[in-house]
Amino acid sequence: MNQVNIGLLGVGTVGSGVVEILNNNAEIIKKRLGFDLNLKRVCSKSISDKAKKIVQNVLTDSYKDLFQDDIDIVIELVGGYDFAKNFILQAIENKKSVVTANKALLARHGFEIFSKAFENKVDVGYEAAVAGGIPIIKAIKESLSANNINSIKAIVNGTCNYILTEMFKKEVSFEDALKDAQQKGFAEADPTFDIEGMDSAHKMAILSSISFGDNVTEYDVFTEGIKEISLLDIKFANEFGYTIKLLGITRLVDDKIDVRVHPTMVKKSDILAKTDGEYNAIKIKCDMADDTVYIGKGAGSLPTASAVVADVMDIARNIKHNSPLRIPLMSFPFNYVRKREVVDINSLEMDYYLRFSVEDSAGVLSKISGILGENGISIKSVVQLNKGENWVPLIIVTHKAKEKSIQEALEKIHKLDVVKSKTLLIRIDDE
Ligand code: HSE
Repeated sequence: MNQVNIGLLGVGTVGSGVVEILNNNAEIIKKRLGFDLNLKRVCSKSISDKAKKIVQNVLTDSYKDLFQDDIDIVIELVGGYDFAKNFILQAIENKKSVVTANKALLARHGFEIFSKAFENKVDVGYEAAVAGGIPIIKAIKESLSANNINSIKAIVNGTCNYILTEMFKKEVSFEDALKDAQQKGFAEADPTFDIEGMDSAHKMAILSSISFGDNVTEYDVFTEGIKEISLLDIKFANEFGYTIKLLGITRLVDDKIDVRVHPTMVKKSDILAKTDGEYNAIKIKCDMADDTVYIGKGAGSLPTASAVVADVMDIARNIKHNSPLRIPLMSFPFNYVRKREVVDINSLEMDYYLRFSVEDSAGVLSKISGILGENGISIKSVVQLNKGENWVPLIIVTHKAKEKSIQEALEKIHKLDVVKSKTLLIRIDDE
C-alpha cells in the first residue's frame, strides 16, 4: 500500500481548505509520511468552482460511497448534529477512521462516538474542533502527557476576540464591531453560537475532557456571552488595569470540575490580554512543565484545514503501522474516564466589576453599598460617571467575594427603585 485513501464529506470553508492543502502540499505531505494521501472520493451539497476543478473526477452524490472498501479515512466537515452524527457512526461501523472539526457534536455526543470507535478499533481525529490551526489537542493528549494539568485559561473564539479588540481600539459599540466582523468574514451571518459563548463552551468541554480524563459535555459548562459588554466597560477595565476577554476556564477543584465561559477582566500584563483580533490563545498550567501558551488562528479555511490534514496524516501512519488507537481517543484509556461533579459557580470567590444603572440622586450610593456590606462584600473602588442625565452608570469593583453573596446582593439591589436596569457583572481574573 503506497497510499492511504480518503473520503471527504463537505466542501465548505474548511473542506475547500482541505482540498487545497492536499493538492498544493502533496509533496511535503508525502515527504513527511513516506507515502501519498489520496483524495479518493468527495461528497458535498455545494462546492466552489476552485475546489470543483481539483476534485471533479472524484465527486459523488451519495455519502454512502465514502464507506466503500477502498476508503481508509473519512473526513466529516458538514457540521451540525443529527446528520453528522449518523454519518460518523456509520463510517465507524464500516471500520473507517474519522477526522472531524465538529466541536458542537463532540461536546454533546463525543463519548458515544469515541466508545463506538474504540469498539470498532478505529481512530477519531478532532484537532480542528478546538482553536483551528493551533495544535492544542495534540499538545494535551501527547506533548503534556507526563503532567497533571492544573488549569486552562483560554480565548477560543476568534469572533468574540475580534469584536472586543475592535471595540477597544476603534472605540466602537458592540453592534458596530459585530457588523465589521461579519463584513470581514470573521463572524458568521448568524453569530449566536459565538457571541453567546456556546462555541467557546463546546471547545472548553472538549479541552476539559481530555485534560482531566472526564466526560465533560456542553451542559456542564457555565456559559455567558459578550452581548452586554459596552464600550464603557472596556474603557473602565483599561483604567483599572484590565482587558475584557471572553475567557474559557477549566480546572479541578477538590476533584470537581470548574468549567466556565464568561467575559472576564484579565490583567493587562497577562499574555491572554495581549492576544488581539481574531487570534486564539490557550494557557495551560501543568505541575511539571509549568505554564505553556499556544497562540494562533482559531478559525479560517487553511488554518483549520491544516489541523484536519495533520490528523489524517497521524491516522494514516497508524493504519500503515497497524496500530489504531495508539493514543487513547479521549486522552485517557476508557477505564480512567470518569464523570465528575461540576463546581457550582455560586461557591466560587473572586473580585467583581459591577456596573449599575442608577438615578443620580442623594443616598443612592449608600443604599447600594449598604446592601453590598450587609452581604459581606467589601468595595475596592467606586466610580460614578456624571453624564448630566437622570440615569448614570455607577461602577463598583469589589474585593474578593463569594458569587452567591454577589448574586443575593444584586437581587436585593434590583428591587430598589433608584436602579434602572439589570446590573452588568464581570468576573475579574486576578491570578
Ligand atoms: N466561529 C469560531 C470563531 C470558529 O469565531 O472562533 C469556529 O469554531
